[in-house]
Amino acid sequence: MVGRFLQTVLLAASARQAIASCAYGTFLHPRAEEGGAVPINTFGYTGSIGPLNWAQLEAANDVCSTGTRQSPIDMAPGAFNMVPASELALEVPDFTEGTEFENLGTTIEVIAKGGTLSFSGKVFELQQFHFHLPSEHLDNGTSQAMEMHMVWQSAEQEIAVIGVYIEIATEASAAAPPVVVERRGRFARPQQVAHQKRQNETGAVVSAKAPTVLLETIFSVVDAIAAPGTKVETPPLIMSEVLDLIKAGGFQGYSGSLTTPPCSEGVHWLVSTAKLAVSPATFLKVRDIIGFNSRFPQNALGQPNLLQVAAIAAAAVQAPIAK
Ligand SMILES: *[C@@H]1O[C@H](CO)[C@@H](O)[C@H](O)[C@H]1NC(C)=O
Ligand SMILES: *[C@@H]1O[C@H](CO)[C@@H](O)[C@H](O)[C@H]1NC(C)=O
Repeated sequence: MVGRFLQTVLLAASARQAIASCAYGTFLHPRAEEGGAVPINTFGYTGSIGPLNWAQLEAANDVCSTGTRQSPIDMAPGAFNMVPASELALEVPDFTEGTEFENLGTTIEVIAKGGTLSFSGKVFELQQFHFHLPSEHLDNGTSQAMEMHMVWQSAEQEIAVIGVYIEIATEASAAAPPVVVERRGRFARPQQVAHQKRQNETGAVVSAKAPTVLLETIFSVVDAIAAPGTKVETPPLIMSEVLDLIKAGGFQGYSGSLTTPPCSEGVHWLVSTAKLAVSPATFLKVRDIIGFNSRFPQNALGQPNLLQVAAIAAAAVQAPIAK
């Protein structure tokens, strides 16, 4: 938790608080008070508010166009430090009463506090998870239908993000979709569906081709947040299904950045080798609401920022015209 004093200092010190980012709900961009309005992002994904121009939107965003460890990137096999799931302790409680699901304009985000992630002697607390469409990281050069980002923060104010690709399911759901029954303003517990393709611990890339119940449950209410700035309470969320799945795989680890302004570096990335899935109908429904929210793939780690590479190239092309 970030203390009120620190929040105040950060609010006073940083203009970047004015914009929401994929760090919304962390010390970089604390959430509004409980029950407050959902902020709508002022950056975007196309035109002059898109990622080619993020650095011009706020001084705090400079690193978007100068950083040399920017995310997302192509996750080529063999090029990353493989982190076995056994090397990290990962726990997220079920949200038996449901939790808040918000439309920030540039993403849809589930407020999910209380989980812990421990690795390399550091302890991180889950803040939220949100969705990108299509995926931001590339799986060996190939974009995936969507990507889920689980955003964690340590007491030392470091950020870790678990990225999980989401495919379009090729199998029908193994059971009926979660039954959602309204009951005194709350929802009845959805029926748990056991079936999910399992995999062994060899670190091989694994797929869940049946729709992931957690995702289908969350997206069953996505229509209620079609408009930016709106929020809805989800049905109860059973997290163990997805946790079991990603713990059975491994992670490609690297030190990168936030994929939205202010593009801060030093983010501990853990890209899961497990994949989740949504039904084709759910994918279309979510696509119509998100539209497009994927930053272009950044240069390889340690290489010059692509926007600087492009600026030099553009200047070289324009030089003869200026004469
Ligand atoms: C990654 O992509 C390259 C180029 O398409 C391909 O040759 C290689 O087999 C792929 N590796 C894996 C593990 O899929
Ligand atoms: C475990 O993974 C290895 C490597 O991909 C594969 O050859 C093997 O068939 C898998 N075993 C099971 C039981 O799925």
